[in-house]
Amino acid sequence: MGSKVKSLNDVSKNRFNKEVKFWTEDSGKDIISWERKRRLEITKKEIETYYKDKKCTILEIGCGAGFNISELAKHNENWTCLGTDIAPQMIQHAKKKYKQQKNLQFEVLNIDKAKIKKTFDVIFLMGVIGYLEDNKRALEKIASMMKKDSLLIFTYGNSQSVFRILRFSTSCLLDSSPHFVRLYNSIKKKIRKDALPYSPLANIFVPFKKKRIHSLLEEKFKIVDEEALCFSAGFFGSLSVKSGKFLEKYFHKNDPLKLGMTNLIIARKK
Ligand SMILES: C[S@@+](CC[C@H](N)C(=O)[O-])C[C@H]1O[C@@H](n2cnc3c(N)ncnc32)[C@H](O)[C@@H]1O
Repeated sequence: MGSKVKSLNDVSKNRFNKEVKFWTEDSGKDIISWERKRRLEITKKEIETYYKDKKCTILEIGCGAGFNISELAKHNENWTCLGTDIAPQMIQHAKKKYKQQKNLQFEVLNIDKAKIKKTFDVIFLMGVIGYLEDNKRALEKIASMMKKDSLLIFTYGNSQSVFRILRFSTSCLLDSSPHFVRLYNSIKKKIRKDALPYSPLANIFVPFKKKRIHSLLEEKFKIVDEEALCFSAGFFGSLSVKSGKFLEKYFHKNDPLKLGMTNLIIARKK
């Protein structure tokens, strides 16, 4: 019996179909949920700058359980919002949870394989670049759904970040033995009961060098701004959030020590 090698898209779909609960709740108690809060704040502020009293069409790719896009739809009823994700369980959950919001729709979309036959004023992806099979192809699809000057906002993992390297080394150590994984998860559970346990080799997220992302963008987009986020590997729950907030204050606009694990890019379609 031959076993079929799973594509990255299949691995993502399987993983995120099972993580609906985790991506629904935004406790703010760990570094990931702090990063999610910050990236949503920046995205909202940026859209507000251009579309405060105007109509605007917004597409979120990889919307997970729908929290970000529903916050934007709630924030301004002139904004028509569409949330999309590769994982059907996420979309099913979002459709049910946010059915009262008239300016908000959801649909299943794999941006590696398909696009929406419409254009949008704003397209954003939070924590999605890094799970895709082909970023160049996805960015071409995204560009084809935008008009000149439409806004693209997205985050990517910075592969040169000190904290990311620390986190990666820890996962390599954990992956080397199931005993380490058990020990790590039991400590994590003691610190935070609702934390997602570490699952060996489930971490399929690929970080990038800044230069690589810039070169992928240069043909179709003009970068307007870039900020660093998430200044901690997040091993110590709310303590990590505190130290992360402190470093973010000083380094989010200029991060010469490469501390931020995530970068957020704001770009315009050429
Ligand atoms: C880390 S989660 C982030 C969820 C959400 N953006 C947030 O900030 O809460 C990444 C999301 O990207 C989705 N995703 C992964 N590959 C995708 C693809 N090819 N097309 C669309 N969505 C994808 C996953 O299903 C998952 O919901």
